[in-house]
Amino acid sequence: MTLDTAPGMVPRTEAAADGVLRPTLHHINLKTSPDGLQALIDWYGTVVGAEVVFRYPMGAWLSNDRANHRIAILAFPQFRRDPEQEVHTGLHHTAFEYDSLEKLVASYVRLRDLGTAPFFAMDHGMTMSIYYLDPDGNAVELQVDNFASWDASQEWMRTSLEFRDNPLGVFFDPERVVAALSEGLSPEEIHERAFAAEYLPDPIPDIGGPEIEA
Ligand SMILES: [Fe+2]
Repeated sequence: MTLDTAPGMVPRTEAAADGVLRPTLHHINLKTSPDGLQALIDWYGTVVGAEVVFRYPMGAWLSNDRANHRIAILAFPQFRRDPEQEVHTGLHHTAFEYDSLEKLVASYVRLRDLGTAPFFAMDHGMTMSIYYLDPDGNAVELQVDNFASWDASQEWMRTSLEFRDNPLGVFFDPERVVAALSEGLSPEEIHERAFAAEYLPDPIPDIGGPEIEA
């Protein structure tokens, strides 16, 4: 097996060479119980600045940019919380991206000071990511691209031996990243240190997946 056919080494397909027209991912649509609707509206407003574009008793449509909506929430009477959500198949999380580490960290600090704590944070190699749970237990990732370039980021995922060996990443303690930024370290240095496990949290979070070596 040569390196470029090894597992995880996926060559890039020329867009449009296969005749598939590629639409852009536009929104997510969550289900909640009727009495959970307001809490989700409030939470996504606080966390990612989503505003209500339209709502009625059985749902709401929110947007935090120019799209007509980015987050839809349906609250039909028969919907109820799944007590085994964590181990059931389905969506694991949604993700929102900032264009700088400073903005990711500023949002972490703002939310922390409002009493909204993440349940873990991880340097995935291509992104630094902080994960939260909404009031229904849906995970939401806030991230920044470590390459500041989607092309470079995707190329790293396709070709990096580090990613092939560890596709999940390395936990970090957001407070240590806050401190590193305030000490004047660059985002590149902070990513390097986080990815080298220099900012490990204590204890290592249990994220309900396979055991991850620290
Ligand atoms: Fe993700």
